[in-house]
Amino acid sequence: MTCLERVSTGIKEIDRMLAGGIPKGFIVAVVGEPGCGKTIFCLHFISAGLNEGEGGIFITTEESRESILRQAEQFNLGFEEGLREHKLVIVDALMRSKEDKYTISSLEVEELIQKIIEVKRELGYGHVRVVIDSLSAFWLDKPAMARRYSYLVKKVLSKWNMTVIVTSQYAISTSEAFGFGVEHVADGIIRFRRAVRRGVLKRYLIIEKMRQTPHDLRMYEIAIVDGKGLAVLGPTAWRKEDVALPEEVRRRILAAKDRREGEVPP
Ligand SMILES: Nc1ncnc2c1ncn2[C@@H]1O[C@H](COP(=O)(O)OP(=O)(O)O)[C@@H](O)[C@H]1O
Ligand SMILES: [Mg+2]
Repeated sequence: MTCLERVSTGIKEIDRMLAGGIPKGFIVAVVGEPGCGKTIFCLHFISAGLNEGEGGIFITTEESRESILRQAEQFNLGFEEGLREHKLVIVDALMRSKEDKYTISSLEVEELIQKIIEVKRELGYGHVRVVIDSLSAFWLDKPAMARRYSYLVKKVLSKWNMTVIVTSQYAISTSEAFGFGVEHVADGIIRFRRAVRRGVLKRYLIIEKMRQTPHDLRMYEIAIVDGKGLAVLGPTAWRKEDVALPEEVRRRILAAKDRREGEVPP
């Protein structure tokens, strides 16, 4: 077996689940509903590179550059320093009037690719980590192009010395329109989930695919911890209640459970 070079995700438990990390040069899809922790995971990934002296490129379409920066600073991920030393570039692709060198004014895939290459050149020689959060935003208004655009991104970026994470955001009801494409070309898929259990929001992570990797197959419960960021709590047994159910179904299950418990003599 040839030994692949792997890059750290920035979270050691997840590196362990990945038999050491993400193989260098891969393009990995991080998928899940809003609020699951996708963006925060991506911040850790970039931060791990900065710690090792690698460059980072973070493309944000969902929140502003300032919002990304503030979030990263809450977890002490070294983004301010990265920007100051020009090891990190945050490309703002949120459509807005204010423009600078690191904004993308239209959500066009060609412009995105162009910008990534331009910034890569600027950062100079060496491996860089790239996050596109989210890639699916680039074909929101043209879902039929998802597959073709996904291939284009992969084909062009694979020629450069970079490991790429792209996020894809979708709700269950619209998974087709938003999710299609990215997973099909990705070398790996990391899925985030969330569920309300006993009235509390829980978050989970499972590695669904990682080429050339004997990865962990279990679903892990995770948490976002103030001042620290993403933390892995441990593997979880798959239970029916672990996945989000329609509200009405959930209510009936809980009601039935309460009835059962009410029948137990004190
Ligand atoms: N400082 C913090 N302390 C604890 N939890 C936080 C903190 N900052 C953000 N979060 C949690 O992280 C969530 C956002 O996660 P995010 O990675 O942006 O989700 P996604 O990108 O999947 O939509 C928030 O809704 C909140 O629950
Ligand atoms: Mg996000």
